[in-house]
Amino acid sequence: MKHLLVTVLVAALVVACGSESPDQSSGNSATAEKAAAPAVDGEKVYKQYCIACHGLYGDMGASGAFNLQVSALTADERVKVITEGRNAMVSFKTLLNEDQIKAVAAYTMTLKKEGE
Ligand code: HEC
Repeated sequence: MKHLLVTVLVAALVVACGSESPDQSSGNSATAEKAAAPAVDGEKVYKQYCIACHGLYGDMGASGAFNLQVSALTADERVKVITEGRNAMVSFKTLLNEDQIKAVAAYTMTLKKEGE
């Protein structure tokens, strides 16, 4: 019984998240993000958990946070840093699930400065 309820809830969440994008063409052409982005909205996760140190654009550097605009790490390496933490960067493994971590790692790839 409980399992069914959880499954339904999760399904509802996924549907709710997925239906956000198509109708409102907010912002300018952010097409690059879409290709790699999994079901979770990495931008949302980033704004909730990461801007305190990295800032909205990744370059704030509070508490010695790395400037994500110049980070050369691959998405996989970022997943590792986010999951396990590194020095002053906290581990997010208890706060975020795997999909959220992958999504936010993918989002940080889009912060890179490449002639906006
Ligand atoms: C408590 C402040 C803090 C928060 C919150 C935080 N970070 Fe960090 N982050 C850091 C610091 C400090 C470093 C540099 C770690 C080091 O010196 O080894 C870092 C490094 C990183 C790196 C490695 C960059 C590189 O090229 O080496 C990535 C990727 C990263 N953070 C992503 C994130 C993401 C995504 C989030 C949100 C889920 C996040 N961080 C939240 C402080 C933070």
